[in-house]
Order: sequence, then C-alpha cells, then structure tokens
Amino acid sequence: MKTTKYGIVGTGYFGAGLGRLLHAQEGAKVVAVYDPANAEPVAKELNCDVEKSVESLCQRADIDAVIVASPNGYHKHPVLCAAENGKHVFCEKPIALSYEDCNEMITRTKEKGLIFMAGHVMNFMDGVRTAKRLINEGRIGDLLFCHAERNGWEEPQSEVSWKKLRHISGGHLYHHIHELDFIQFLMGPAERVSMIGGNVAHQGERYGDEDDMLFISLEFPNKRFATLQYGSAFRWSDHNVKIQGTKGAILIDMQDVKVVLKTPEGEERFLLHESKEVDEDRTRIYKGLEMDGAIMYGKPSAKPPLWLQGIMKKEMVYFHGIMQGAEAEEEFKPLLDGTAARAAIATADALTRSLQEDRKVSINEITEKEAVAR
Ligand SMILES: NC(=O)c1ccc[n+]([C@@H]2O[C@H](COP(=O)([O-])OP(=O)(O)OC[C@H]3O[C@@H](n4cnc5c(N)ncnc54)[C@H](O)[C@@H]3O)[C@@H](O)[C@H]2O)c1
Repeated sequence: MKTTKYGIVGTGYFGAGLGRLLHAQEGAKVVAVYDPANAEPVAKELNCDVEKSVESLCQRADIDAVIVASPNGYHKHPVLCAAENGKHVFCEKPIALSYEDCNEMITRTKEKGLIFMAGHVMNFMDGVRTAKRLINEGRIGDLLFCHAERNGWEEPQSEVSWKKLRHISGGHLYHHIHELDFIQFLMGPAERVSMIGGNVAHQGERYGDEDDMLFISLEFPNKRFATLQYGSAFRWSDHNVKIQGTKGAILIDMQDVKVVLKTPEGEERFLLHESKEVDEDRTRIYKGLEMDGAIMYGKPSAKPPLWLQGIMKKEMVYFHGIMQGAEAEEEFKPLLDGTAARAAIATADALTRSLQEDRKVSINEITEKEAVAR
C-alpha cells in the first residue's frame, strides 16, 4: 500500500481532530500543519512539521492532499492554493460563504482534475444512511415535505468566538449547512425560497452579530416543500429532521437520539450512530448542554465527543480511501467535487437575499447572475 501524505491548514478543534483520525489510518501520514496560533502542539502530537504559511505547505512536493479546517471565511485561499499546486482537497463546511466563491473553488480544482471533498459529515451518520436506504426502498412512498430544526440557546460569552461573527462564520445557516444540504440531497435543489428572522435576543458586546432566529421555507418542483429553523434564541432546544412521504414518515432525532420509521403498520426504530452506547452518549451530552453546541465544546483545546469522532472517522476513512484509489459511489460523487456543497450555499445565498429584501427569491437569481450581496 502506498502512503498518502497530508497537510492540514487550521489545526484548531476540528482540524486537529481530523488530523488525529487520519494519521491513525493505515497508509496515511500527516506530514505538515499550518495554523497561525495552534500549530505547535498538534505538530508535536502528530510528529510532523510546522509550516510557516499556506503557500509553503501547499508547495511541498511530499504532500498529496490538503485538509482545510480554518474558520469558514478563510477556506477559499488555502483551497485555491492547494489546487494551484496540484493537491487534492478536503475542505470543512461550509466550503465558502458565497456561491461565487464556491464556483471559483470548484473550477480551479476541477481544471486540475483534483478531488474537492466537502466536510458534510452528516452524510456519514448511520441513521442518515438508513433513512436514505428506507426512502430508496419505497418504505415512505414519494417525498412530500421535510422539516428540520437546529435550535438552542446561547448564554453570554466571556470571549466572542469567530463562530458567532457573521463575516467569518456566515451565521447559523451557513455554519450549520448540514440540514439544508441533507434536505436538498433528498428533495433535489430548491426552486424558490424565503426566510424571515433576525437577531432577537443576543445584542451587546458579549455576543456576536449573527441572527439568532431564522425561519426558512423552500419550494421544490411538483408541489413539494421544506421548512427549517435555525438559531440560538430558543429556550426549548431541538435538533431533528422529519421526512414526510405519501406512505410513511421518518424522524432523525439528533437530540433525543433515535431514528424512527412510521408507517400504517407501526413504528420501527434504528440507531443514529454505530451503537446504542454512542447514541446514549450523544443524548446525555445534549440533555446536559446549556449553551449552543458550536461554542460549548468547539474550542481549539477540546476533543470532539464520541458520536462526532465516530462520523469524523468514517469521513476521513472515506476520503483516505478515495486518495488510495477507491471508486466513489454515485451517491457521493457530488460530495467529492464541491457541487453538493455549492448547491447548499446557492440556496443559503438566496435565503439571505430573501431576508434582506423581504421577498421570495428564486435560486436562479443566484446561480445565473452570480451577484451575491451580503
Ligand atoms: N463538520 C462538523 O461537524 C464541524 C464541527 C466543528 C467545526 N467544523 C468546521 O471546521 C472548521 C474549523 O472549526 P473549529 O471548530 O476547528 O474552529 P477552531 O476555532 O477551533 O479552529 C480554527 C483554527 O484555525 C486557525 N486559523 C485562524 N485563521 C486561520 C487562517 N487564516 N488560516 C489557517 N488557519 C487559521 C485558528 O488559529 C484555529 O486554530 C470550520 O470550518 C468549522 O465550520 C465542522
């Protein structure tokens, strides 16, 4: 087996976690990291070099692929730099904060024939794969409607995380693009969208500037719809996706962790993660969370919880497999060239415009003009 060599840009909470999991794979070696603040301890742990810049890391002849896990607004530069140097890319979500930037990143990786995988880790949850299988088997009939909620409460912060600053994170919708991406995976791309909301309860210096309540509606061809809620102004927290079909429905509950298939014959339960223990661990963590999860444990020094480590590992095993020459399944192809991620960002851009201009917006307005005002 050949050894695939990796470089990591951004070794905070997630980059370090991905690096550890990747480094532990057979035939994988992290050889260099770049991070303006947190590189040294991670390089020491992984026994690899510290690079002084994104450029010097991407120019190394011994690197095959670059993992980009810097803050959301700082993904584009390392992705373009990796592409320029002929390196494959794994880029954390959201890959960018505008459709235009996604396009540029896709074009530059595609013209060099490179893999550009988006870190849409929800795809690697066992329960999500189960839901897709049940839908493909026709167990819930034709899809009519999906609903997702990712709601919690944010307490005042002693230090405001970049995850709460709109120009770096994109705010809740972009930062937590997973549910929007998943719903479009199931229903196809939305045609027309609208969003209402705002920052209703988190103004002041101990908070960022993102909107803390977002209410979204998506319209798909053939009278199919979806609604989503995001935010950190919900004292009653929820994290789930409901999929409604003509013959049955599926609940993917990521807070009171379970997957349930409901048909006229009754209810069937499935695991969300790889074991009952992991599902119970996630339930316990969510029940104890008093703060928005993104800032509660997403700190450079923290280690991801069991459930998240499990799906991060599956994701890194998958990416490493592709690097080692494995054939991609049809289902995952749009994940490996940035196009699924771009479709989600196009919809997020249309939703942002809808909120700003107080009207319904067609996705065409974003994808055909590429003019995104935020
Ligand atoms: N898929 C998931 O479930 C999930 C979960 C957490 C984070 N993430 C994503 O991972 C990425 C990193 O998030 P995190 O939680 O590790 O944040 P973090 O703040 O813990 O780490 C970010 C790191 O990037 C470094 N950095 C800052 N500016 C940089 C730049 N210009 N170039 C390179 N590095 C820079 C920081 O010093 C820090 O070490 C984000 O895109 C985030 O959305 C994904």
